Amino acid sequence: MPLVDFKHVLTYARERKLGVAAFNPVDYNSTQAIIDIADELDAPVICQTSAKTVRYYGAASIYSWMQQLCKKTSVPVSLHLDHGKDLDMIESCIKSGWTNVMIDASDLPFEQNLARSKQVYEMAAAHNVSIEAEIGEIHGVEEDIVVESGGSVVDPDKAEIFCKEMDLGVFAPAIGTAHGIYHGEPKIAWDVLEQLSERINTPFALHGGTGLEDDVIQRCISLGCSKVNISTQLKHAFISGFYEHHRENPDDYEPLSHLKAQDQAMREVVRYKMEQFGAAGHGQAILKAMNTQ
Ligand code: 13P
Repeated sequence: MPLVDFKHVLTYARERKLGVAAFNPVDYNSTQAIIDIADELDAPVICQTSAKTVRYYGAASIYSWMQQLCKKTSVPVSLHLDHGKDLDMIESCIKSGWTNVMIDASDLPFEQNLARSKQVYEMAAAHNVSIEAEIGEIHGVEEDIVVESGGSVVDPDKAEIFCKEMDLGVFAPAIGTAHGIYHGEPKIAWDVLEQLSERINTPFALHGGTGLEDDVIQRCISLGCSKVNISTQLKHAFISGFYEHHRENPDDYEPLSHLKAQDQAMREVVRYKMEQFGAAGHGQAILKAMNTQ
């Protein structure tokens, strides 16, 4: 099954108030865990690579894993660049076969963010790749991007202009969620999300999914957050699955038993999230809808 641009998938999801899980894999095994569970649950899924992960392995290696893993699948899988800031890297991902890229110019003033995002939108459109772009600033640490200021919630008027200027695959509005672990209760700007939901049809991306209660995520999905990002929780499963196995079996120096425990821990997270977000069971229907368009 070839990789699929998430624009079609997220439009389908927004119309039905479903959430599509977007995980950040960190190696071949975590990518395999994500794709296997998606296939088992008939769920569309987005594998999104951070810029750090792309720099670590190189775009060509990551793309070759994806191709190999997707040969066996029968669900829509997208390969996305998360928080792209470097235009050369964005271009390299587009040319290497990524189905989607994010331009994160959210640290720039609105007009400059819009201009930079449009530049990427046009570059991507020339390769039939749709994009994610962000306004407002999402608090916290996402790989090597650090927003310490507390972030800033999106202005709905600016959000509307931004989404009219480009036919985005997904729009990432800062609504008070944060990357990484929450210290205290997350303060979602529900009034802002409700306004966005009424005024903008583009599907939204919910950043900072780790640590949000299930009912909070459900409410966000029902208000248009069709892409739900989970990174930190998967990374924790990756580390603690391995580490806990060794803590419980201190004499075991067989790497494969550690990798197995790590794999199980990651699969548990992926399965739980996919079942919660509601798009499980829709994979085939999405492909059918795409083929009849
Ligand atoms: P978490 O790390 O909080 O899950 O957020 C992921 C994210 O939004 C990636 O862009």
